[in-house]
Amino acid sequence: MTEITLSPSILSADFARLGAEIQAVSDAGADWIHVDVMDGHYVPNLTIGPDVVKAIRPYTDKPFDIHLMIEPYEPYLEAFAASGADIITVHAEAGNHIDRALQQIRSMGKKAGVSLNPSTPESSLEYLIEKLDLILVMSVNPGFGGQTFLDSQLRKIRRIREMIGDHSVALEVDGGIKPENIGKVVEAGANVVVAGSAIFKGGTPANYKKNLALLRKAATAH
Ligand code: DX5
Ligand code: ZN
Repeated sequence: MTEITLSPSILSADFARLGAEIQAVSDAGADWIHVDVMDGHYVPNLTIGPDVVKAIRPYTDKPFDIHLMIEPYEPYLEAFAASGADIITVHAEAGNHIDRALQQIRSMGKKAGVSLNPSTPESSLEYLIEKLDLILVMSVNPGFGGQTFLDSQLRKIRRIREMIGDHSVALEVDGGIKPENIGKVVEAGANVVVAGSAIFKGGTPANYKKNLALLRKAATAH
């Protein structure tokens, strides 16, 4: 049975209490912490930058999974690496020199990821597989939490799982994931699952624990 990594997106946390929220969700059973960085240009929303990531870093020892939805990303890779990121993921659509960016991320000692929007084909990964640690399939159009999962992405997840073959690359899916659909995402080949609204629902540590357990159980019940 595949081990599933759950990466709660802090986009759905209470931003006024971000440190406490990260601590709570870590204690509740999160494996990673998913940090959505948005620039109001590449996506129609604004969130946080490297200084906030640095400020929240001491609240957990779980890996920080940084999802950069910014264009250009090149000028900020160093700052995010220094902020305490473990994995840095850039969007395939947000730059012309992905190969170079992945090398730079790895040269700074971080894991390198590439994300694909719902309309971006998996063929864009063809010459990158050896240079990647993680592939992030967006199952909603990036920008907001709480959107509806796009079933069209299941086919893409399946195809990418095949492309990965024996390579040691994590396959992460992000957007609209709930206990009702996590099973099919995992069945299609994902081994890292991001969820924001489904995990932070209820707003208390007890609910986070319950929500994470529900997702974990549903992930393998297919
Ligand atoms: C969307 C973000 C997601 C989002 C997920 O642009 O990348 O991480 O917060 O939120 P839910 O799980 O609520 O769809
Ligand atoms: Zn994300």
